[in-house]
Amino acid sequence: MSQELIWITGASQGIGKAVALAYAKAGHTVAISARNRETLQQVVDEAASLTGRILSLSCDVTNKDQVTEAFNQLIEEERLPDRVILNAGTHQPMAASEFNAETVSKLLQINTLGAAIPLEVLLPHYLERQQGQISIVASVAGYRGLPTASAYGASKAALINLAESLRAELYSSGVDIRLINPGFVKTPLTDKNEFDMPFLISVDEAANAIIKGLAGKKFEVVFPTRMAIAMSFLKWLPDRIFFPMINRGTGHGR
Ligand SMILES: NC(=O)c1ccc[n+]([C@@H]2O[C@H](COP(=O)([O-])OP(=O)(O)OC[C@H]3O[C@@H](n4cnc5c(N)ncnc54)[C@H](OP(=O)(O)O)[C@@H]3O)[C@@H](O)[C@H]2O)c1
Repeated sequence: MSQELIWITGASQGIGKAVALAYAKAGHTVAISARNRETLQQVVDEAASLTGRILSLSCDVTNKDQVTEAFNQLIEEERLPDRVILNAGTHQPMAASEFNAETVSKLLQINTLGAAIPLEVLLPHYLERQQGQISIVASVAGYRGLPTASAYGASKAALINLAESLRAELYSSGVDIRLINPGFVKTPLTDKNEFDMPFLISVDEAANAIIKGLAGKKFEVVFPTRMAIAMSFLKWLPDRIFFPMINRGTGHGR
């Protein structure tokens, strides 16, 4: 296997960090981004004994100047990455009784614009080269509206459509657009959840599924399988069955 250069956003912890370490273990070079330089450095230090290299490339994905600077630095010091995984994101549950536009705006800003801004910076380079893979991390929570997830789900549904649109347009180009839809993965993000998360998997399991999926040919990399089946089932369920079922099933029924 030839040595690849991979750029992963939101890789100082959680899923992004696990994917970065797994690629580095396999001998690849991985540039990792997040806002906090110290936590990025900890990942670099953790990877010191691995076959591959991890490079810290701090930036806030919602800031175009910072993203541009980080990307230009990566190209200058290395080259155009073979793969980019736009993974940075956050979650904030919001009950209907606490509904506020600010939370919706914040999650759209970080999750959706946090992928759109890097895409604006990256796409001209990839379109010129007509090669390379760009993956967008959304969530199975973007398949259908779920209780307390109106802000998070909306940001992820937007990303699913955005990725599909780019895939449709670039299908016959050499630019390989992928969509990654994780189910529940145990990370600092989901540690905030107070409910039992069905089919919860570890970050290492998630990293294996992502790396295997991106090496394959399918547009959507969705895991774990049982969660993918359950959420696909909900996706196609008629509204008259879906709404009462999800209302009762998530403890929101009277
Ligand atoms: N865990 C799950 O069950 C699950 C399920 C479905 C989808 N996902 C998606 O998978 C992705 C990773 O989730 P995770 O659970 O690994 O989250 P996490 O543990 O909270 O890690 C999020 C990462 O994103 C970075 N980040 C946040 N805001 C950023 C910004 N504005 N600019 C740059 N980096 C930023 C964080 O570092 P800094 O704070 O230092 O910036 C951190 O490295 C997210 O997009 C999430 O929505 C997760």
